Amino acid sequence: MSDIIQLLPDHIANQIAAGEVVQRPASAVKELLENAIDAGADKIQLILKDAGKALIQVIDNGSGMSVADAKLCFARHATSKLRKAEDLFAIRTMGFRGEAMASIAAIAQVELKTKTATAELGVCIRIEGSEFVGEEPTACAQGTQILVKNLFYNTPARRNFLKSNAAEMKHILDEFQRVALAHPEINFSLHSEGAEIYRLPPSTLKQRIVHLFGNNYNERLIPVEEETTIINLKGFIGKPQYAKKTRGEQFFFVNNRFIKDAYLNHAILKAYEEILPDDHFPFYVLFIEIDPAQVDVNVHPTKTEIKYVDEKSIYAILHAAIKRSIGRFNISPSIDFNQETGFSQLITPKAMEDIVPPSISFNPDFNPFAAEQKPKREQAYATLGSRLSPSPSGWDDLYKITAKEPEPIQEKLNWEEAEEATNVAKSYMQWHGRYIVSQIKSGIMIIDQQAAHERVLYEKFLAHLEDRKGASQQSLFPQTINLSASDFVLVQGLLEDIRSLGFQVREFGKNTLVIEGIPVDIGAAQINEIELFEQLLESYKQNQQELKLSKRDSLAKSMAKNAAIKIGQVLSQQEMNVLVDELFACQNPNFSLNGKWVVQTLSLAEIAQKFEKY
Ligand SMILES: Nc1ncnc2c1ncn2[C@@H]1O[C@H](COP(=O)(O)OP(=O)(O)OP(=O)(O)O)[C@@H](O)[C@H]1O
Ligand SMILES: [Mg+2]
Repeated sequence: MSDIIQLLPDHIANQIAAGEVVQRPASAVKELLENAIDAGADKIQLILKDAGKALIQVIDNGSGMSVADAKLCFARHATSKLRKAEDLFAIRTMGFRGEAMASIAAIAQVELKTKTATAELGVCIRIEGSEFVGEEPTACAQGTQILVKNLFYNTPARRNFLKSNAAEMKHILDEFQRVALAHPEINFSLHSEGAEIYRLPPSTLKQRIVHLFGNNYNERLIPVEEETTIINLKGFIGKPQYAKKTRGEQFFFVNNRFIKDAYLNHAILKAYEEILPDDHFPFYVLFIEIDPAQVDVNVHPTKTEIKYVDEKSIYAILHAAIKRSIGRFNISPSIDFNQETGFSQLITPKAMEDIVPPSISFNPDFNPFAAEQKPKREQAYATLGSRLSPSPSGWDDLYKITAKEPEPIQEKLNWEEAEEATNVAKSYMQWHGRYIVSQIKSGIMIIDQQAAHERVLYEKFLAHLEDRKGASQQSLFPQTINLSASDFVLVQGLLEDIRSLGFQVREFGKNTLVIEGIPVDIGAAQINEIELFEQLLESYKQNQQELKLSKRDSLAKSMAKNAAIKIGQVLSQQEMNVLVDELFACQNPNFSLNGKWVVQTLSLAEIAQKFEKY
């Protein structure tokens, strides 16, 4: 048999290698920004068209390249950052593999203009799909400008694989945020479709965080600083009460490189363990400085993974330092958590020794039968009740609904008895600020108040999203809300639906919204507009990311979860009446949004059984 092995031509080898380095526009953005940083630039501009699919342009004022270097930089394994193998363990630059430029040039049309400080003229080089197509002297400022056009133009399969512009833009913003956080001393700007998205002046890390995530972050941060013989740690963590339901805002850097590290992330989360519910993620921007000889960054082409010689010690230091910072700011006790459900149960007995349990609103003198007693919450819900359409044609309708969908409901509850309970007795007791209890013919009926209200609100919001008629209640004082650029992009795509829910909201300049009204259904006095909106956004992201719900389902669920009455909320007779009526007018009253039961019955027989001889 004749010999069949051949060396691949460079352009094919480059294209294959490009698959690992450049998966999407965001990866090209990352590589180009890092090159600019390695070149010592203190001003870097990023310009995008079509979420980077049509154009990615990076302009820096760094060292620039000589003519020969400008040509060589597109060759594979061409780098100025590494000379010998040992250098790998003394790496201080972002790049070292010498493959980013070659990879990008293999799958796009690239124009590079660059000039060093001493050269009189710069050079302009054009390269498309790894082929040089032009070179000419050009007048330009010191530094490098690179234009990357039509990414994946020669690899259609890859191009088709790209997501919507909004999704690709989100990836780019993530990369941009990471690089910008790691270098607050550098002046960054980002323009997309001609509009300025970010202008970040040189600043401190704290200011940079505020510029990226919004003014309200100023008060949310706790500084972290720890020097040890193994690592130096610095940065900021978020106060626990501002923890979110999505893990998006967690940034961990090793020697200024953004790293994804589940093990060390765990060390950080563990420090919050006793003060954060499981489904909440704290904000953090943390930097570890470590001797490069103690790590290996050459684990993956994207350089977002790292291996440590002494991982365990780093874990322990990180955990202890974060815990100390939280403790020093003495914020463990009295956390409200946006009245998050069941939080009290998440505190372990160990934690109870040193922290004050969160206060649960509970009125020991509450008498559900005394009509004149009207705690604040009660009034809120009473107003809510009066605004609702008059009781949903009562139990007759309910019965019809049940008849249509008999399966689980019939099993759990005898509706005739329930009817009797509400129509005849119509008196409810609230147990432990948590359950609504009523006597029915065969025993008692117990309703989980929070699950019930979530169900009621969910079905309402879903209906509003369908008919686009969510009533709004004007706020006395319109509130402005400052969002991160990526959240702002997300909201823009949701505005129509958000308005259908009953929000009156409009864009108000860069990354800012004005909320002028909130949905009537949630009742006025209960929740602050900004908080509600932020929570809506957070749970929406979570629902989409983790549960993969549809847009509307996700919005309706998020709203219902955030706006529903919680455990501990004292309810009046009237409020309980409204809630129970509304619950049984729901299409699916028996199931909570988490798939648990909303209503339970305990028959006299079951109760009697408990009194049998032991
Ligand atoms: N903006 C820039 N300014 C000055 N020199 C640059 C710039 N971009 C690239 N270079 C030069 O081109 C070389 C090749 O860049 P490339 O990104 O391909 O490799 P690298 O940065 O060395 O390693 P990696 O592939 O890990 O990024 C760099 O080593 C650097 O010398
Ligand atoms: Mg590079």
